[in-house]
Amino acid sequence: MNTEERKAIYNQAKEWVLEAGKNIRAKIDDPLIIDTKSNPNDLVTTMDKETEAYFVGKINQIFPEHHIIGEEGYGDKLTSLDGTVWIIDPIDGTMNFVHQKRNFAISVGIYHDGIGEIGLIYDVMEDNLYHAKRTEGAYKNENKLAPLAQNVRFDEAIIGLNHYWLCENRLVDELVMQQFVRKIRGSRTYGSAALEFAYVAEGIINGYLTMSLAPWDIAAGIVIVNEVGGVTTDIDGATLDMLEKNSVLTCNQGLQQEIIQFIEKGRK
Ligand code: IPD
Ligand code: CA
Ligand code: CA
Ligand code: CA
Repeated sequence: MNTEERKAIYNQAKEWVLEAGKNIRAKIDDPLIIDTKSNPNDLVTTMDKETEAYFVGKINQIFPEHHIIGEEGYGDKLTSLDGTVWIIDPIDGTMNFVHQKRNFAISVGIYHDGIGEIGLIYDVMEDNLYHAKRTEGAYKNENKLAPLAQNVRFDEAIIGLNHYWLCENRLVDELVMQQFVRKIRGSRTYGSAALEFAYVAEGIINGYLTMSLAPWDIAAGIVIVNEVGGVTTDIDGATLDMLEKNSVLTCNQGLQQEIIQFIEKGRK
């Protein structure tokens, strides 16, 4: 994808993201129909579906040759990332959306032949748009984000992770993870993977560690974190498969090896 193509698609995507966010804000106090998916805490609302359907309708109209992966199933069933693919999470942080009416985001990543070209993460209620185009830097609204500090020490790092890491889990011995949270300076749990990526890019947390995320949770975030010199892999340091779920570690390069080596001690 050349610079001009990237810019044209970015401009269009940005317009739709802001428009979708405006619609959510306008209806934030309207009654919601809340359903559950894989378990009683896996929520989906009419607004998740309406928002995804909005993007799919627009993309099909303006870019009929593009493909779409969306959490709520309005997109295509893809088996490859060939061509231009929009990877959309209409509301990332649905639990926050339902319970808090804030701390959720629209996440749109646009990939071309498997390469992340554009990332947009919109904190709807704060009206903050994190965005990046490959090779052109990352921004929060109009402000360019600084390259990540690479010299952050492990014992001075704030890492986003949720509390399941400290319970018995299938990936890492919980005792090792308890040592992990004692060794770092602090941990945070925000409840929106997309926002946690955005916060890593902004440098307000130094990393984000998670057991299982889908492509739509991370597609935009990866592009944005890349543009500030951060790195994203699975928890063993391997490349992510953007058609599957993965464990995820995104952080500055300086911390990556130290975190992976720490986790390795308890890896199942
Ligand atoms: C969820 C959020 C949450 C993460 C979950 C995701 P959703 O996305 O990003 O922070 O811990 O794994 O599924 O369902 O609210 O779009
Ligand atoms: Ca969901
Ligand atoms: Ca999500
Ligand atoms: Ca979602």
